[in-house]
This record gives sequence, C-alpha cells and structure tokens, in this order.
Amino acid sequence: MSVFPEGFLWGGAVAANQVEGAYRKGGKGLTTVDLLPIGADRFSIMQGNIETLEPIAGAYYPSHEAIDFYHNYKEDIALFAEMGFKALRVSIAWARIFPQGDEEQPNEEGLQFYDNLFDELRKHEIEPVVTMAHFDVPVHLVEKYGSWRNRELVTFFERYAKTIFTRYKDKVKYWMTFNEINMLLHLPFVGAGLVFREGDDRKQIQYQAAHHQLVASAIAVKACHDIIPDAKIGCMLAAGTTYPYSANPADYLDAMDRDRDSFFFIDVQARGAYPGYAKRFFKDNNIDIQMEPEDEAILRHTVDYIGFSYYASRTTSTDPEVLGNTTSGNVFGSVENPYLPKSEWGWTIDPTGFRITANQLYDRYQKPLFVVENGLGAVDTVNEEGQVEDSYRIDYLQKHLEQMGEAIEDGVEILGYTSWGPIDLVSASTGEMKKRYGYIYVDKDNDGNGSLKRIKKNSFYWYKKVIETNGGNL
Ligand code: BG6
Repeated sequence: MSVFPEGFLWGGAVAANQVEGAYRKGGKGLTTVDLLPIGADRFSIMQGNIETLEPIAGAYYPSHEAIDFYHNYKEDIALFAEMGFKALRVSIAWARIFPQGDEEQPNEEGLQFYDNLFDELRKHEIEPVVTMAHFDVPVHLVEKYGSWRNRELVTFFERYAKTIFTRYKDKVKYWMTFNEINMLLHLPFVGAGLVFREGDDRKQIQYQAAHHQLVASAIAVKACHDIIPDAKIGCMLAAGTTYPYSANPADYLDAMDRDRDSFFFIDVQARGAYPGYAKRFFKDNNIDIQMEPEDEAILRHTVDYIGFSYYASRTTSTDPEVLGNTTSGNVFGSVENPYLPKSEWGWTIDPTGFRITANQLYDRYQKPLFVVENGLGAVDTVNEEGQVEDSYRIDYLQKHLEQMGEAIEDGVEILGYTSWGPIDLVSASTGEMKKRYGYIYVDKDNDGNGSLKRIKKNSFYWYKKVIETNGGNL
C-alpha cells in the first residue's frame, strides 16, 4: 500500500549551469556561475569577493562543459524515462534567452533549445518543472548595473519572465522563480550576482537585493497567472529545520531566529507582506530598504506552492564551548548534532528532520509543498564489472522517502519529489564532479578528464522500482 497520492510527481532535479555546459554556444552570454573556478578561491568568490568578471586563462571552470547535457539531453532524458520519471526539474539559463540580460529582444536560438528540451520531455510524458533563475545572473548585468542591488533588474527579469511564459505556455505548467532564494544571504554572488568592494555595507546591499528579487518574483507570479492560467508557480527555499542544542530558552530563541532568516523570504512570497519580525530586524540593524509605492500591492501576488530543498537539519547553540564544534552543510553553519551522522562532506544526515521540516512548512503556509531537491553527495567508484554499487545512497534516499511518507500521513500535501542530480553533475558548492548524487554515473573527474559516458548505478534500478510502485515498496 502506498501513502503517496495518485499522480505524485516522482523525478529528479538539475540546474542549467550544473549540467548543460556549452557555456558560449547558441548565443548564450556569460553568467556569474561561469566565473566560479574549482579550487581555493571558489568560496570567497561565491561570497562576492571577485576581482575580474572575465574567466582567467588557465583556471578550470567546471560549468563551461559540465556534463554536456546541452548535446546529450535526448539520451539523458531517455534514461530518466526508463526509470519512469513523471517530472524533471530543470532551469532555464537567463543568459541563453537574454545573453546580456538587458536586451529588448530575446535570443531565438536559446528559446529554441528549451523548446526542444520540453518537447523531448513531453514525448516521454515527463512533466517539466522549471526554475527561472538557478544561481546564474548574466555577467553584463553585474558589470553594468551591479546586479540585484539595482532596481532595474526587476524590469529585466519581468521581460525575461513574460518572454518565457508566453513562449512555453503550452509546454510548462510548473514554474519556480528563484532557486533557494535565501542563499542570497549566505552566498551573495551565487544567489544574486552581488560583488562587494571595500567599504560596502554588505547587509544593507543584500537585503535591498532581496527586496528586488521578492518584487521580481511577485511580478513573475502575476504574469504567470495572467499568461498561463492553468499553471502553478512556486517559490524555492533552501530548507532544513534548526534545532536548539539544549533546552536553554536562549538556544531555542536562537534556533527560531535562524529559521526566520530563511522564512522571511517565504513569508513574503507566500503571505504577501513583510512579517513583523523582519521589520524589527531591519530596524535593529539599521537596514533601510528602498521600496516603491507600488511594491506593497505587487507583493500581494503570492505563490501557489512552496518548493524546497532538504539535505540536512541544522543545530544551534548560544554556548561558546558548543559553538566551537561546527560542521558544514549546504553553507548553513551548524554545530554538530551528537545524535546524527554526517556525509563525507560533513552534511548532517537527518531523515526525521525532513518530516519535521515538511510539517513546519505546511503548518506555516498551508500551501502544497513540492520537494524539489534532496539527496546524498558521495564518492562513487566503478568496480571491475563496470558497476556502481551505491547502497549508501539507496539507504539515504530510502530513509528520507519513508519520512516523506510519514509527513504525508501527518496531513502534509506534497505535489512531488524530484531528487537532486539524478545524473551526476557539477557540485554547486565545491565545483567537484567527485561529489555525486546521481542514479546515473558520468565518467568525468574534478579536472575535467573523462569520456562523459553514462553508467546506470544500482540506485537506478532501486528508484525505478520506487516510482513503479508509487512508493509502495519502501
Ligand atoms: C542546492 C542547490 O543548494 O544544493 C544545488 O540548489 C546544489 O544547485 C545542491 O547542487 C547540492 O549542493 P552541492 O554543493 O553538493 O552541489
């Protein structure tokens, strides 16, 4: 017996910059992600510390070729179809449609590429779930306007939104505006193309950029409803509940505040206004957001569903001794949780936290949820028989799916589940290929060597069964 509703959207999720490659083909402009090298500088650049907006000769930029999905999408989609995918989450690279970002007219070759991609998905009866911006701002917008710190970006994004809604209105019924919108506060270059110079008031700039994205997102919601009345459009949160390390009320308050750092975005997108605690935060921190008179009305265009990624829970403490013991995890700082194991990259593994997070989001917003990312980044090896025995991945996913089932039984409405990176792809945080999430192995290493050959891992057959039984075999 399955607890998953009929028509549940099982599938996988990728992002243009992590799979497509062909970074200057088909008229595509350079994007911020194309300036992220693998190596020591990566993290600092992601935080907005970058000297030049040109790729540096000799540096290795993993997005430039990625896994060459641009040329292989038909074969890759056939493999997804073989697993029985009902949905594939992809993103459109803004710079394929508007290479510079501020043109009046779109780039036909870019539009055609996604037409072909969506047609191929439809051919296999796979529902496209499309993110409009997944960490890739056209570099020209950074150079000329300072990216999202500038209100003009709202106008350019609106043009982009209306262009893609009009073009794909018969092919795409599930949309999302900004991937992990809360990432802007942690990795401002990645989340919003923000570059900082000495003396910049970083907080002020980040929240102003956040406001612009929130307005742009609400404008996109309205446009989507006008142009494609039968579509659903959601927001996208990098989620993961925060636990207080102890029962000390100070720890609890700290955990609540940390969750609110992220919820604040979704509160605006799902409820249509800034929450009181955000206004207090701005006041206490001398953040003065420039708003236009029409913004209040614009923000009332709220999303239809809450898309979110879940990889790990977070734990917080106010005790300096405990605070010394931190672990990584999707860039959200966390102290080590003594009850939970970690992945090879230090990300906390917490299936119960997944159920808690889903319940928390549903309690808060009372809107359908869509799990658009979840998975385990791990090192895989191809054995002598040419197989990849990834039982650790199956174990991770199995436990998370069970907890998603629990959440559904708790009464949480979930539209679907697209696990992250169903085919190995470039890691967003480290740029590595070695950090693999896929059911399908891609022969490529961190230095860019490899045949790009695809190999089905053991998890491929496991996930196929999950989908076949609508989660009944878990
Ligand atoms: C999310 C992003 O933060 O996590 C993805 O939306 C990213 O783009 C994923 O790839 C996993 O992170 P990483 O760093 O392991 O690739």
